[in-house]
Amino acid sequence: MTSEFRDATAAPAPSPHGGSWPPRGDGTRVVHAGVPAPVAGEPFLPSPVFGAPYHLDPVAGPQPGVDGYGRTDNRTYRLLEQAIGELEGGECVVFASGMAAITAVLLATLRGGDTVVLPGDGYFLTRAFAAEHLPGRGIEVRTMPTAGPYPTFDGVRLLLLETPSNPGLDVCDVADLAARAHARRGLVAVDNTTPTPLGQRPLDLGADFSVASATKALTGHSDMLLGYVCARDPELLATIRTWRARTGGIPGAFEAWLAHRSLGTLDLRLARQTANAAAVSELLAGHPAVASVRWPGRAGDPAYEAAARQMRRVPGVVTFTLADKAAVDRFLAASELVFAATSFGGLHTTADRRAQWGDDAPEGLVRFSCGVEDTADLVADVRRALDAALG
Ligand SMILES: Cc1ncc(COP(=O)(O)O)c(C=O)c1O
Repeated sequence: MTSEFRDATAAPAPSPHGGSWPPRGDGTRVVHAGVPAPVAGEPFLPSPVFGAPYHLDPVAGPQPGVDGYGRTDNRTYRLLEQAIGELEGGECVVFASGMAAITAVLLATLRGGDTVVLPGDGYFLTRAFAAEHLPGRGIEVRTMPTAGPYPTFDGVRLLLLETPSNPGLDVCDVADLAARAHARRGLVAVDNTTPTPLGQRPLDLGADFSVASATKALTGHSDMLLGYVCARDPELLATIRTWRARTGGIPGAFEAWLAHRSLGTLDLRLARQTANAAAVSELLAGHPAVASVRWPGRAGDPAYEAAARQMRRVPGVVTFTLADKAAVDRFLAASELVFAATSFGGLHTTADRRAQWGDDAPEGLVRFSCGVEDTADLVADVRRALDAALG
């Protein structure tokens, strides 16, 4: 049973506070990410700035480097962008939700005549958005399964990957696919929602964009929606920033502050979620109520080898299949700790029967997101619920 791959691809850690510290561990990095250097009398994380217009110099008017209007200038989300950018290894542009971030990448980079390739088994709303809005703009939409095989990328302007895919948890080789897409002059974006930047750094693997819903594990408390796009290329960053300024999909100052505060515990939360997923996936694999289980951190899982090469740690999301809807109903009714809820990556363990949202998935398929409860309590609760699921 392996739960963490940190030695496999050790990511270079930027220095906290931009100083000359040597690379630090994940816990240190998330606690200090985006936190300003100490100033006597100031809080560690500056309080949220609530401003639509800011005072202008009445004579000089707008000045470079001086905040003028909240849709483009806000110190609270700039600090959050600095924090996420440090962790992803690029520059960050935050958005009001993951979908606002993903649609920004699609709409700001694609033009009529372009082709985009999306995961056929990834987050369903990305595909739904593309199907509804891109063909009418003259953009061809193709889908491919995350596990491949991938044909050549001739004529492909943008390849969007989601790895591990949601909810199937397949993994693809980002470095290999990015090299192949770049050879055909395509751009590559990776939806990094499920792993978070502590689990995987798409920009290091050659992607042009790391895009994510920070609604999930990154913020992890099931109390906000947030998204972001990270990139290294200044032109691509300018395109995304301009898109946000024009369309206005910015997060509120309070959400940005709350997200930054939540980020400090990311290492601790992920460690417990991953430990819980390791224990729960073992239990699931040996239980007669379970037809199949997927978790890329489990030796023998079809995604294990690829995950071990590419990921620094495995997220706490496990996908398993019970006999049918009735079995899932019995499972949820019998559990005392598992909340029925969509979304994932939060403090509380949740289970989501994906067919109820229209996913092309078996009726009994459950996306199970391990929270930070004590492992022994969670395993005992899930065992009881699985016994009940047998009927
Ligand atoms: C992989 C993935 N990407 C993007 C999104 C969209 O994020 P949001 O709900 O923050 O708009 C989700 C939401 O579940 C997701 O699971």
